[in-house]
Amino acid sequence: MLAAASAMPATAQKMNIEQRGDTTVIKIDNPTKYLLLPVQEEKDEAQVLLDTGSKEDTWMDVRLAQNGADYYVPFALTGKKTSTVKILGLKKGSIAVNLMKLSDTFDTTNTDYYRPSYHFTPLYGWMNDPNGMVYKDGEYHLYFQYNPYGSKWGNMHWGHAVSRDLVHWEHLDPAIARDTMGHIFSGSSVVDRNNTAGYGKNAIIAIYTNNSVAHDEVQCIAYSTDNGRTFTKYEGNPVLRPFDGLKDFRDPKVFWYEKNKSWYMIVSADKETRFYKSKNLKQWTYVSAFGKGMGQQPCQYECPDFFQLPVNGDKKNMKWVMTMNINPGCIFGGSATEYFVGDFDGKKFTCPDAQDVKWLDYGKDHYATVTFSNTGDRVLAITWMSNWEYANITPFKQNRGANGLPRELKLYEKDGKYYLSEDAAPEVKALRKATHDLGNETVEDTKDMKGAAANMDGAFEIEADVTPSANGIAGIEISNNKRERTMIYFNMKNGKVVMDRTESGLTDFGKNSVPHDIELAWDKQRELQAKQPARIENAINYKNDFALATWGPLNLCEGKTYHVDIFVDKSSVELFVDGGRIAMTNLVFPVAPYENIKLYTKGGKAEFSNIKVHKLAL
Ligand code: FRU
Repeated sequence: MLAAASAMPATAQKMNIEQRGDTTVIKIDNPTKYLLLPVQEEKDEAQVLLDTGSKEDTWMDVRLAQNGADYYVPFALTGKKTSTVKILGLKKGSIAVNLMKLSDTFDTTNTDYYRPSYHFTPLYGWMNDPNGMVYKDGEYHLYFQYNPYGSKWGNMHWGHAVSRDLVHWEHLDPAIARDTMGHIFSGSSVVDRNNTAGYGKNAIIAIYTNNSVAHDEVQCIAYSTDNGRTFTKYEGNPVLRPFDGLKDFRDPKVFWYEKNKSWYMIVSADKETRFYKSKNLKQWTYVSAFGKGMGQQPCQYECPDFFQLPVNGDKKNMKWVMTMNINPGCIFGGSATEYFVGDFDGKKFTCPDAQDVKWLDYGKDHYATVTFSNTGDRVLAITWMSNWEYANITPFKQNRGANGLPRELKLYEKDGKYYLSEDAAPEVKALRKATHDLGNETVEDTKDMKGAAANMDGAFEIEADVTPSANGIAGIEISNNKRERTMIYFNMKNGKVVMDRTESGLTDFGKNSVPHDIELAWDKQRELQAKQPARIENAINYKNDFALATWGPLNLCEGKTYHVDIFVDKSSVELFVDGGRIAMTNLVFPVAPYENIKLYTKGGKAEFSNIKVHKLAL
């Protein structure tokens, strides 16, 4: 028997650590609320279990410290007299057991330099897809793919936060935890107004994928009668299995289809999406499939969504929209969101221009976009601001993963085809804390507005109406005092609006190359950049998956003047042109906050009117 090490004198008498074969058994008398587990990110996962004697006890994967710790994660203990924690697969000689601490609290004060200030992130741990979003009784519920035991992907839970205005979020405990059936993958939630599932009028029902190596991906449901705070899993789960043994069959989105008085589910089935229908959310019948060989190819569909919108606001001309998230193989590499517009008759979705590829956002960090259910006429979406190419290695420790701003989707018609616009939801205006009115400028070469966004801690919004010359370039450069910059420009010759992040800050995300010291990283970065060829604007990978420029086609817009709305928040830049006809979301990692603005032109004069900089904060 091993006495707990002297690293934790105050609590040593409470912990007993014993090695039984390959299992480490930790017995804690009069346990505190948490056992704080030290994590070393580049190490392999060990398995940790809170042994309560129940068959529901679930092993969690934790990258326990072997010879150094990056941060701690809280592992909740039972309120009982003794808690038993078991660890499997801990490397011999690991210092994890010496570093563990007992505590009633877990400090979530931010320690990450790049943590956004007004975008949603969990308090600690890893986040990917938003899911299960639903509006009920004045609250927007945001659930999300969450790992509470480390800042890399793993242990999928549904994390949970609520908001009354889409911008101020209250963090709540995870709503659905990984269980013995597997990870709780993405899905959706509905308000069961007519008690079709038998859990009471207005119960919230979550429909999610259970993922495990032990079985195919299957769809399950859970219900909540306390306004989405806690969920009980249905004892008859799963409610749907793939009929053909597909391995990739996930991310169910459920909606009420009034014409047939039925629930419908759209679920991604590898390279197509499938529709199912049900009267009670428990028995599902196959209806049809859509998407094979369409849009972007080759593709792997994930997180599909399906909703109705009026064309140009005309409620007599309603269309159905299918959004799909695709990974990998997107326009700028890795993951992105595309969509199809068409008609649905309860049996089939038809889309006349399904061979076209329509992107919802032309950046590289816009994925797993899905919409809230139960929001009436409004279609509100949330996106995860990252890309699977590098999501696990961005320069964060305590906390990895942020959502884009909440967006409102609308349909418009252009040259006989239908397109989705994706604009920042008007609720975002509540973040404006101060406004600098910078008037109008006619720019022949450059107009330097040094310090125009100073003292804003890298969290601001720029608005302007830009009229480029007929064949020229008109741009806005956002920079810090370390010569790092993100450039957003209209190139009229090739009809593109471009966001160039090749010199935006840290861009070198080799495996395990995430710098701990940003000043050192800065030197390394300059050295690398000096060796690079000149910037390119064609969205071809530059020197790795991160350092590139992304672009959107200006033929989606009308007229010769473009309204730009640019949101900067420490480590992200979101651009909305003409109310979101072009949206573009990219991560950036400047080593000092951006604070300067420069307007520039090439090939002729450009007008910049109504220029404003808003300081943004919660
Ligand atoms: C999309 C995705 C989903 C899956 C989830 C797992 O990013 O791969 O298909 O449900 O993430 O976390």
